[in-house]
Amino acid sequence: MSKIKLSHYKDLPIEMHKVRTVQKLTLLPIDERVKAIEGAGFNSFLLRNKDVFLDMLTDSGTNAMSDLQIAAMMRPDDAYSGSETFYRLEKSVQDFFGTKFFLPTHQGRACENIIAQVYVKPGQITPMNYHFTTTKAHISARGGIVDEIYSEEAININSECNFKGDIDMGKLKALVAKEGVEKISFVRIELGTNLIGGQPISLKNMKEIKKFCVEKGLMVVMDVSLLADNLYFIKTKEKEYQNMEIGAIVREIAKCGDILYFSARKLGCARGGGIAMFEEKYFMHMRDLVPFYEGFITYGGMSTREMEAIAVGLEETLDFEMINQGPEFIAAFGKELQSFGVPIVTPVGGLGCHIDARAFLDHVPSGEYPAASLIAAIYITCGCRGMERGTVSEDRNPDGTDHIASVELVRLALPRRVFTLSQIKFAADRIGWLYKNRKLIGGLEFTEEPKVLRFFVGRLAPKTPWTEKLVKKFKEDFGDSL
Ligand code: F0G
Repeated sequence: MSKIKLSHYKDLPIEMHKVRTVQKLTLLPIDERVKAIEGAGFNSFLLRNKDVFLDMLTDSGTNAMSDLQIAAMMRPDDAYSGSETFYRLEKSVQDFFGTKFFLPTHQGRACENIIAQVYVKPGQITPMNYHFTTTKAHISARGGIVDEIYSEEAININSECNFKGDIDMGKLKALVAKEGVEKISFVRIELGTNLIGGQPISLKNMKEIKKFCVEKGLMVVMDVSLLADNLYFIKTKEKEYQNMEIGAIVREIAKCGDILYFSARKLGCARGGGIAMFEEKYFMHMRDLVPFYEGFITYGGMSTREMEAIAVGLEETLDFEMINQGPEFIAAFGKELQSFGVPIVTPVGGLGCHIDARAFLDHVPSGEYPAASLIAAIYITCGCRGMERGTVSEDRNPDGTDHIASVELVRLALPRRVFTLSQIKFAADRIGWLYKNRKLIGGLEFTEEPKVLRFFVGRLAPKTPWTEKLVKKFKEDFGDSL
């Protein structure tokens, strides 16, 4: 895309692929959308996908696959142990990261379970640039404490900083000096920092972290699930690496970790996961937990078809035309939203566009879950489903009070190579309309609240009948339009 110049458009995200398989979509009438969101307890996770027009919940397991991936899925070697498919995947992981050892798992959080079981002791601290929901849940379940040592820019919604995912080295050094090495389980680096808006971490910062950890004898665990987007930002925004081959950048990144784990629902555009390591000792520490929780060590809970697809997906991640599709398409979506005045996280990162729900709904208090309300309002307005990445995604404090999230975001994920530009423009147009009518939207409260990871299956309801007012205004402005 970057090499194509046009007479009028400056940054049109031209697709360097063609669509050869399609899936039909429907956009329900607004009254049915209201019924659907009510039935889902105002939780977008509980909507049925048939009731969704544009599914922007996540890119997890929903990225479009390539023809070569689908073709590879036709040749798996099914065996409980020792399948050739596993050895193909293992080799692909080794070639990709330059690591020697590999343990397969059924998805990313399964890696987190195993890593936390082996390496987190009660009372220990795990410093990281930012937590991810399932990561924190597994560390907390082992009695560990997550400590986010991000720089001030990380949670600055509108910033000039290209690498908001960087760890503040001063904070890391001060923490280790204060607590001592024994009190630290490991340092965790998350690429494409999900919960602050898919924001990248610089390779410079990763190298500094690794150097410091080697000096102190600390282990570094890297969550490389969102590596593809992060790679794009390193390649385009970190001058030192602009002329380096993508494969070489991946191996430089990998060298900054002792243990690398990933959700292959994101990295590799299929469904699965795995842990890659340079040293045998880490493999031996964790190996026996794979058959215990996942499946034998040559499939780890994955189907052989998916394993074949991941092997090809990793190879394809080395193609710039593949890794630039997400960030450039997301940037185009961001520009559309901004043209309607919608407040979004900037710079626009990877994964999707992130709306600043606190700014959008400045009249809804954090305790009434503005991001969750806005998700429901967006679904009612245009049938798009986003994901709450704010206070609902945080479990309560030990004293029962809400843990108010530092950033209150609506994530509109753009699974790679799935949507068209006109669909993006449609979503931006309707969300722009909603922004003009934002005062009609009110807050939510829980009616059913799980104790752990409540955002997945918790149910909520409007505190006031605001959805009726919203529907009335929609009908005034759009008539009987879907
Ligand atoms: N780490 C990161 C950074 C993630 O984004 C995810 C999943 C996981 C770990 C867990 O992986 O889902 O395969 O078990 N993120 C998804 C999302 C769910 O929608 O952002 P998993």
